[in-house]
Amino acid sequence: MEPMKREILFTKEVIEKKVWELAETISRDYQGGELIVIGVLKGAFVFMADLIRSLSISCLIDFVKLASYGAGSVSSGKVMMTKDIEISIEGKDVLILEDIVDTGLTLSFLVNLFRERNPRSVKVCALLDKRQRREVPFEADYVGFTIEDGFVVGYGIDFNEEFRYLPEIYIIENMTEERNTFIPFEEREDLDDLQRDVEQIRDQKFGEEGEEGNNEKETSRLWSPWKLTAYIVIAVLILSGVFLWFFPGIGEQAWERMSLSIPWIEKIRGTERQGEIFDQPRVQLKDIKQRFVNNLLLGNLRVIEGTAVNSSDFPIAGIRVRGRLYDAYAMVAGEQVSYCGNYLIDEELGFLTEDEIQRELSNPRGSDVSNNRITPHGQIPFMIVFCHWPGDVFKTTVTFAGAERLLE
Ligand code: IMP
Ligand code: MG
Repeated sequence: MEPMKREILFTKEVIEKKVWELAETISRDYQGGELIVIGVLKGAFVFMADLIRSLSISCLIDFVKLASYGAGSVSSGKVMMTKDIEISIEGKDVLILEDIVDTGLTLSFLVNLFRERNPRSVKVCALLDKRQRREVPFEADYVGFTIEDGFVVGYGIDFNEEFRYLPEIYIIENMTEERNTFIPFEEREDLDDLQRDVEQIRDQKFGEEGEEGNNEKETSRLWSPWKLTAYIVIAVLILSGVFLWFFPGIGEQAWERMSLSIPWIEKIRGTERQGEIFDQPRVQLKDIKQRFVNNLLLGNLRVIEGTAVNSSDFPIAGIRVRGRLYDAYAMVAGEQVSYCGNYLIDEELGFLTEDEIQRELSNPRGSDVSNNRITPHGQIPFMIVFCHWPGDVFKTTVTFAGAERLLE
């Protein structure tokens, strides 16, 4: 015996597209009418649910249930209604929805039955059409797919009441003649085999992602916006990791730059600069005067005096100040550094030698006022003396030249 062939005939996406196309045509054809859609139970229920939701026109719905008697797949041609519709179709447009037209017996029976009830029109929409197997001439007005012989299940269509839940349509070829008959539950071995086979096909098909061309939905699940974003982030992280591994200097520079504008980055990196290391002593100079004092040996001395104020918030010591003389070309023509706390009275300035004067002014501890500890806001006088200078001094400046921080 030839083995049974079981495979997916139409995927969810293919069915979805077809249903949408059918709905579009039907909506156009029944524009402005009063449509009643009648589903043939049970096979058409999934198809009907999808189709009516794709219509762009309004409709009423109802159901019939039919049974054909006669054994095996070869129907006796006798069809009977086991459930009738509950709404009147008189003067209305009737559209019968059926899963499959096979021999054509069921639908020709149903169409004839409804015609007797004086509707405005009766048409048929079948999802599948097995044209080759007709026993009576019958043409559906709307057909989803025309298929060859072969037994199909899924998307509402059953084999012995099973498989209706499958979202795809599967084909099972080379079925035995009894394919349309009900198998008693105690003799279900064949059916169980079939069930296992179909589940296996589903697993193969949809377990492996992106394998088949027409399972776009599966692929799109794999590439959902969130996942795509996550993939990009991971890829960027990996690439930057590799990049920084090879060019560590660039990473260091990037950190430095970032920490300029985002201070907490240093905290995270543990490279936060400690305040005291970079907190230089700050000193302001005030009451600055320049005058000339006559010295017996050296002639005129240029004397700069003033007061240094500790404007840091910690004590400092050894404050130095620098005096500079500039010529007309902004070149430094003379420079003297003095320690604060040293000064000379005019009598001393009048007779001391240059060496003696500079020695007096360069005592780090301050010979007149202590330069050992100047508290915040504390003040200390200073004096800078130039004993000689080039003829054209254009500008004299005095600046803070340094101090030591005292740690408590
Ligand atoms: P017919 O057109 O009167 O032969 O009957 C069509 C009905 O037979 C459909 O409504 C189905 O219920 C059933 N049928 C025909 N072919 C298949 C099939 O391949 N799978 C499941 N049911 C089928
Ligand atoms: Mg049916």
